[in-house]
Amino acid sequence: MSANANLILIGPMGAGKTTHGKWLARQLGRRFVDLDAHIEQHTGTSISHIFDLEGEAGFRRRESEALAEVLASDGIVLATGGGTVLSEANRALMKARGTVIHLHLPPEQQLQRLAGDRKRPLLQCADRAGRLQQLSEIRTPLYRACADIHIDLSRMPMSKVRHHLIECL
Ligand code: S3P
Repeated sequence: MSANANLILIGPMGAGKTTHGKWLARQLGRRFVDLDAHIEQHTGTSISHIFDLEGEAGFRRRESEALAEVLASDGIVLATGGGTVLSEANRALMKARGTVIHLHLPPEQQLQRLAGDRKRPLLQCADRAGRLQQLSEIRTPLYRACADIHIDLSRMPMSKVRHHLIECL
């Protein structure tokens, strides 16, 4: 792996893109960027407030702009949002600008991990299980198509995931 290549984590909400990304960046002595945090810093407001004001379409525009801005750098570890892969242009950009790592987590395990979450706008609904299932059906093929490396979190304990991450790079 070249020291200049960006490492880009993709996968569904609750997969641990931020947690694993921070850890990976520390191990490799790289700068870590979280795409949602970058958007919040630059807009001065929260992701849920952006959804409230501008809807999902407005958030997606900001997300694509932020992705292009962040991926102008080299050598970073980037944690994307669960829906960053929805845009074909975003997928092409990520593939062109780094090694893309897919953290896979099935919807049933997402549901458990996100049980206490009150801030993700897409989970503000009565049927969370149904919503996560529906998002997974749409997005899993996109994660698979976009990634260079796939890690199935449902089959590995945390320590093994990290060992595997380093081994793959
Ligand atoms: C989203 C996931 C969130 C955030 C926004 C939309 C999605 O990021 O970008 O709430 O569409 O799945 P995480 O995957 O970090 O939760």
